[in-house]
Amino acid sequence: MTIALRGEKLTRTFASPAGDVHACIDIDIDVAPGELVVVRGASGAGKTTLLNLLGGLDRPTSGRVWIGDVDTSPLDEEALAALRRERLGFVFQSFGLIPILSAAENVELPLRIAKTPPAERDARVAEALRLVGLADHAAQRPGELSGGQQQRVGIARAIAARPHVLIADEPTGQLDSRTAATVMDLISELVHSQGLAAVVSTHDPLLVQRADRVIELHSGRVHTGQIENGRVASAAAAPAHAEFAEAPAGPVDNGLHTPRTRAEAREQQRHPEP
Ligand SMILES: Nc1ncnc2c1ncn2[C@@H]1O[C@H](COP(=O)(O)OP(=O)(O)O)[C@@H](O)[C@H]1O
Ligand SMILES: [Mg+2]
Repeated sequence: MTIALRGEKLTRTFASPAGDVHACIDIDIDVAPGELVVVRGASGAGKTTLLNLLGGLDRPTSGRVWIGDVDTSPLDEEALAALRRERLGFVFQSFGLIPILSAAENVELPLRIAKTPPAERDARVAEALRLVGLADHAAQRPGELSGGQQQRVGIARAIAARPHVLIADEPTGQLDSRTAATVMDLISELVHSQGLAAVVSTHDPLLVQRADRVIELHSGRVHTGQIENGRVASAAAAPAHAEFAEAPAGPVDNGLHTPRTRAEAREQQRHPEP
Protein backbone atom coordinates (compact mmCIF):
# COMPACT_ATOMS: atom_id res chain seq x y z
CA MET A 1 0.00 0.00 0.00
CA THR A 2 1.25 3.44 -0.88
CA ILE A 3 1.54 5.63 2.16
CA ALA A 4 1.10 9.38 1.86
CA LEU A 5 1.76 10.10 5.51
CA ARG A 6 3.20 8.02 8.30
CA GLY A 7 3.85 8.57 11.96
CA GLU A 8 6.09 6.02 13.65
CA LYS A 9 6.05 5.70 17.43
CA LEU A 10 5.31 9.38 17.84
CA THR A 11 5.85 10.70 21.32
CA ARG A 12 5.64 14.38 22.23
CA THR A 13 6.39 15.48 25.73
CA PHE A 14 6.05 19.08 26.85
CA ALA A 15 8.03 20.29 29.82
CA SER A 16 5.96 22.34 32.24
CA PRO A 17 6.57 23.68 35.75
CA ALA A 18 4.09 21.11 37.08
CA GLY A 19 6.03 18.30 35.40
CA ASP A 20 6.17 16.74 31.96
CA VAL A 21 2.99 16.62 29.89
CA HIS A 22 2.80 13.54 27.69
CA ALA A 23 0.61 14.87 24.89
CA CYS A 24 1.29 11.96 22.50
CA ILE A 25 2.62 8.59 23.51
CA ASP A 26 3.94 6.00 21.08
CA ILE A 27 1.45 6.69 18.29
CA ASP A 28 1.64 4.79 15.00
CA ILE A 29 -0.43 6.06 12.11
CA ASP A 30 -0.43 5.49 8.33
CA VAL A 31 -2.61 7.31 5.86
CA ALA A 32 -2.98 6.18 2.26
CA PRO A 33 -3.97 8.35 -0.71
CA GLY A 34 -7.75 8.62 -0.86
CA GLU A 35 -8.14 7.72 2.80
CA LEU A 36 -9.89 9.82 5.43
CA VAL A 37 -8.59 9.14 8.91
CA VAL A 38 -10.45 10.81 11.75
CA VAL A 39 -8.61 11.45 15.00
CA ARG A 40 -11.14 11.56 17.74
CA GLY A 41 -10.79 12.35 21.38
CA ALA A 42 -11.87 14.66 24.16
CA SER A 43 -10.35 18.07 24.63
CA GLY A 44 -6.78 17.61 25.83
CA ALA A 45 -6.49 14.10 24.40
CA GLY A 46 -3.60 15.13 22.15
CA LYS A 47 -5.33 15.64 18.77
CA THR A 48 -3.76 19.00 17.94
CA THR A 49 -0.36 17.82 19.09
CA LEU A 50 -0.60 14.76 16.85
CA LEU A 51 -1.77 16.77 13.83
CA ASN A 52 1.01 19.31 14.36
CA LEU A 53 3.56 16.49 14.40
CA LEU A 54 2.10 14.89 11.28
CA GLY A 55 1.95 18.24 9.50
CA GLY A 56 5.57 19.03 10.24
CA LEU A 57 4.60 22.02 12.37
CA ASP A 58 6.17 20.50 15.47
CA ARG A 59 8.83 17.86 16.04
CA PRO A 60 8.30 14.68 18.01
CA THR A 61 10.26 14.09 21.21
CA SER A 62 10.85 10.65 19.75
CA GLY A 63 9.60 8.80 16.69
CA ARG A 64 9.49 9.81 13.05
CA VAL A 65 7.14 11.38 10.56
CA TRP A 66 7.27 10.37 6.91
CA ILE A 67 5.62 12.60 4.34
CA GLY A 68 5.30 10.38 1.31
CA ASP A 69 8.65 8.64 1.02
CA VAL A 70 10.53 11.37 2.85
CA ASP A 71 11.66 10.85 6.43
CA THR A 72 11.27 14.35 7.90
CA SER A 73 13.44 13.76 10.97
CA PRO A 74 16.79 14.76 9.40
CA LEU A 75 15.34 17.79 7.58
CA ASP A 76 16.20 21.30 8.73
CA GLU A 77 13.42 23.85 9.15
CA GLU A 78 13.78 25.22 5.64
CA ALA A 79 13.60 21.83 3.98
CA LEU A 80 10.67 20.83 6.16
CA ALA A 81 8.83 24.04 5.29
CA ALA A 82 9.43 23.40 1.59
CA LEU A 83 8.05 19.89 1.92
CA ARG A 84 4.99 21.22 3.76
CA ARG A 85 4.34 23.78 1.02
CA GLU A 86 4.69 21.17 -1.66
CA ARG A 87 2.68 18.32 -0.21
CA LEU A 88 0.42 19.48 2.61
CA GLY A 89 -2.73 21.55 2.94
CA PHE A 90 -4.07 22.74 6.29
CA VAL A 91 -7.60 23.57 7.42
CA PHE A 92 -8.30 25.20 10.78
CA GLN A 93 -11.17 25.43 13.19
CA SER A 94 -11.06 29.23 13.03
CA PHE A 95 -10.98 29.25 9.20
CA GLY A 96 -7.96 31.58 9.16
CA LEU A 97 -9.29 33.81 6.36
CA ILE A 98 -8.16 37.38 5.80
CA PRO A 99 -11.24 39.60 6.26
CA ILE A 100 -10.39 42.29 3.70
CA LEU A 101 -9.74 39.79 0.91
CA SER A 102 -12.42 38.18 -1.23
CA ALA A 103 -12.93 34.43 -1.18
CA ALA A 104 -10.95 34.13 -4.42
CA GLU A 105 -8.14 36.31 -3.07
CA ASN A 106 -7.93 34.25 0.09
CA VAL A 107 -7.63 31.08 -1.96
CA GLU A 108 -5.10 32.74 -4.23
CA LEU A 109 -2.84 34.10 -1.51
CA PRO A 110 -0.74 30.98 -0.92
CA LEU A 111 -0.39 30.53 -4.68
CA ARG A 112 0.96 34.08 -4.90
CA ILE A 113 3.42 33.36 -2.13
CA ALA A 114 4.53 30.26 -4.04
CA LYS A 115 4.96 32.46 -7.14
CA THR A 116 2.59 30.36 -9.20
CA PRO A 117 2.21 32.09 -12.60
CA PRO A 118 -0.93 34.29 -12.77
CA ALA A 119 -2.80 32.31 -15.44
CA GLU A 120 -2.28 29.07 -13.57
CA ARG A 121 -3.20 30.80 -10.31
CA ASP A 122 -6.51 31.94 -11.74
CA ALA A 123 -7.26 28.44 -13.00
CA ARG A 124 -6.38 26.85 -9.65
CA VAL A 125 -8.48 29.33 -7.70
CA ALA A 126 -11.47 28.81 -9.98
CA GLU A 127 -11.09 25.05 -9.77
CA ALA A 128 -10.77 25.03 -5.98
CA LEU A 129 -13.80 27.27 -5.50
CA ARG A 130 -15.79 25.11 -7.88
CA LEU A 131 -14.79 21.97 -5.99
CA VAL A 132 -16.12 23.41 -2.73
CA GLY A 133 -19.28 24.70 -4.40
CA LEU A 134 -18.48 28.40 -4.10
CA ALA A 135 -17.88 29.37 -7.71
CA ASP A 136 -20.66 31.95 -7.42
CA HIS A 137 -19.22 33.50 -4.25
CA ALA A 138 -15.69 34.25 -5.41
CA ALA A 139 -16.00 38.01 -4.97
CA GLN A 140 -17.48 37.94 -1.47
CA ARG A 141 -15.45 38.69 1.61
CA PRO A 142 -15.49 36.29 4.56
CA GLY A 143 -17.81 38.60 6.52
CA GLU A 144 -20.38 38.25 3.75
CA LEU A 145 -20.31 34.46 3.94
CA SER A 146 -21.85 32.02 6.42
CA GLY A 147 -19.60 30.01 8.75
CA GLY A 148 -19.98 26.93 6.58
CA GLN A 149 -19.13 28.91 3.47
CA GLN A 150 -16.10 30.43 5.18
CA GLN A 151 -14.82 26.99 6.01
CA ARG A 152 -15.39 25.97 2.40
CA VAL A 153 -13.12 28.85 1.41
CA GLY A 154 -10.59 27.54 3.96
CA ILE A 155 -10.80 24.12 2.33
CA ALA A 156 -10.47 25.61 -1.15
CA ARG A 157 -7.35 27.45 0.00
CA ALA A 158 -5.92 24.21 1.40
CA ILE A 159 -6.46 22.24 -1.81
CA ALA A 160 -5.69 24.94 -4.38
CA ALA A 161 -2.07 23.82 -4.73
CA ARG A 162 -3.18 20.19 -5.06
CA PRO A 163 -1.48 18.81 -1.95
CA HIS A 164 -1.10 15.09 -1.36
CA VAL A 165 -2.09 15.39 2.27
CA LEU A 166 -4.84 17.37 3.98
CA ILE A 167 -4.61 18.08 7.69
CA ALA A 168 -7.67 19.53 9.37
CA ASP A 169 -7.76 20.24 13.10
CA GLU A 170 -11.39 20.33 14.25
CA PRO A 171 -12.49 21.93 10.97
CA THR A 172 -16.12 21.85 12.08
CA GLY A 173 -15.55 22.96 15.66
CA GLN A 174 -17.12 26.38 15.10
CA LEU A 175 -20.06 25.18 13.02
CA ASP A 176 -23.53 24.05 14.02
CA SER A 177 -24.04 20.32 13.67
CA ARG A 178 -25.95 20.45 10.38
CA THR A 179 -23.33 22.66 8.75
CA ALA A 180 -20.59 20.56 10.31
CA ALA A 181 -22.02 17.48 8.63
CA THR A 182 -22.04 19.15 5.20
CA VAL A 183 -18.46 20.37 5.62
CA MET A 184 -17.37 16.90 6.67
CA ASP A 185 -19.20 15.45 3.65
CA LEU A 186 -17.31 17.87 1.45
CA ILE A 187 -13.97 16.85 2.96
CA SER A 188 -14.86 13.19 2.51
CA GLU A 189 -15.90 13.75 -1.13
CA LEU A 190 -12.69 15.66 -1.89
CA VAL A 191 -10.51 13.05 -0.23
CA HIS A 192 -12.00 10.30 -2.31
CA SER A 193 -12.32 12.18 -5.62
CA GLN A 194 -8.93 13.89 -5.46
CA GLY A 195 -7.03 11.01 -3.89
CA LEU A 196 -6.00 13.10 -0.90
CA ALA A 197 -4.71 11.49 2.25
CA ALA A 198 -6.54 13.28 5.06
CA VAL A 199 -6.21 13.43 8.81
CA VAL A 200 -9.10 15.24 10.45
CA SER A 201 -9.57 15.71 14.16
CA THR A 202 -12.92 16.09 15.84
CA HIS A 203 -14.64 15.41 19.10
CA ASP A 204 -18.00 15.10 17.35
CA PRO A 205 -19.16 11.46 17.30
CA LEU A 206 -21.39 12.09 14.27
CA LEU A 207 -18.45 13.08 12.12
CA VAL A 208 -16.76 9.77 12.77
CA GLN A 209 -19.27 8.21 10.37
CA ARG A 210 -17.50 9.84 7.41
CA ALA A 211 -14.17 8.28 8.33
CA ASP A 212 -12.54 5.40 6.52
CA ARG A 213 -10.64 4.78 9.73
CA VAL A 214 -10.79 6.22 13.22
CA ILE A 215 -7.99 6.80 15.65
CA GLU A 216 -9.29 7.30 19.12
CA LEU A 217 -7.00 9.19 21.49
CA HIS A 218 -7.17 8.99 25.26
CA SER A 219 -4.62 11.02 27.19
CA GLY A 220 -2.13 10.85 24.33
CA ARG A 221 -2.55 7.16 23.62
CA VAL A 222 -4.33 5.41 20.76
CA HIS A 223 -7.31 3.19 21.31
CA THR A 224 -8.78 1.63 18.19
CA GLY A 225 -11.88 -0.39 17.60
CA GLN A 226 -14.73 -1.27 15.30
CA ILE A 227 -17.18 1.40 14.24
CA GLU A 228 -20.61 0.40 15.41
CA ASN A 229 -23.48 2.71 14.63
CA GLY A 230 -21.06 5.55 14.22
CA ARG A 231 -19.41 4.93 17.56
CA VAL A 232 -16.05 3.44 18.18
CA ALA A 233 -16.49 0.38 20.31
CA SER A 234 -14.05 0.17 23.18
CA ALA A 235 -11.21 -1.97 22.00
CA ALA A 236 -8.21 -1.40 24.19
CA ALA A 237 -7.06 -4.88 23.21
CA ALA A 238 -7.28 -4.23 19.47
CA PRO A 239 -4.05 -3.85 17.50
CA ALA A 240 -3.00 -0.30 16.71
CA HIS A 241 -3.99 -0.57 13.07
CA ALA A 242 -7.17 -2.60 13.35
CA GLU A 243 -9.27 -2.25 10.24
CA PHE A 244 -12.80 -1.07 10.69
CA ALA A 245 -16.07 -2.64 9.82
CA GLU A 246 -16.82 0.14 7.35
CA ALA A 247 -14.84 -0.55 4.20
CA PRO A 248 -12.89 2.45 2.97
CA ALA A 249 -14.94 4.18 0.31
CA GLY A 250 -13.43 3.81 -3.12
CA PRO A 251 -12.87 6.71 -5.47
CA VAL A 252 -16.18 8.46 -5.98
CA ASP A 253 -17.05 9.22 -9.57
CA ASN A 254 -18.77 12.51 -9.02
CA GLY A 255 -17.23 14.37 -11.89
CA LEU A 256 -14.91 16.22 -9.55
CA HIS A 257 -11.79 14.30 -10.39
CA THR A 258 -8.95 16.38 -11.69
CA PRO A 259 -5.68 14.85 -12.77
CA ARG A 260 -2.75 15.80 -10.59
CA THR A 261 0.37 17.18 -12.10
CA ARG A 262 2.96 16.41 -9.52
CA ALA A 263 5.65 18.31 -11.32
CA GLU A 264 3.74 21.52 -10.98
CA ALA A 265 4.98 24.02 -8.53
CA ARG A 266 3.12 23.70 -5.29
CA GLU A 267 2.03 26.49 -3.09
CA GLN A 268 3.07 27.87 0.19
CA GLN A 269 0.40 26.83 2.66
CA ARG A 270 1.07 29.55 5.18
CA HIS A 271 -1.52 29.66 7.84
CA PRO A 272 -2.06 31.96 10.73
CA GLU A 273 -1.88 29.58 13.66
CA PRO A 274 0.21 26.53 14.46
N1 LIG B 1 2.92 23.78 23.89
C1 LIG B 1 2.47 23.08 24.94
N2 LIG B 1 3.08 23.15 26.15
C2 LIG B 1 2.64 22.43 27.19
N3 LIG B 1 1.61 21.58 27.15
C3 LIG B 1 0.96 21.46 25.97
C4 LIG B 1 1.35 22.20 24.82
N4 LIG B 1 0.51 21.87 23.79
C5 LIG B 1 -0.35 20.96 24.30
N5 LIG B 1 -0.10 20.73 25.61
C6 LIG B 1 -0.80 19.78 26.46
O1 LIG B 1 -0.87 18.54 25.79
C7 LIG B 1 -2.11 17.91 26.01
C8 LIG B 1 -2.78 17.65 24.66
O2 LIG B 1 -3.14 18.89 24.10
P1 LIG B 1 -3.77 19.01 22.65
O3 LIG B 1 -2.92 18.28 21.70
O4 LIG B 1 -3.99 20.46 22.39
O5 LIG B 1 -5.16 18.25 22.83
P2 LIG B 1 -6.51 18.35 21.97
O6 LIG B 1 -6.19 19.00 20.68
O7 LIG B 1 -6.97 16.93 21.84
O8 LIG B 1 -7.47 19.16 22.78
C9 LIG B 1 -2.90 18.84 26.90
O9 LIG B 1 -2.70 18.40 28.24
C10 LIG B 1 -2.25 20.17 26.68
O10 LIG B 1 -2.40 21.00 27.81
MG1 LIG C 1 -7.00 20.63 19.74
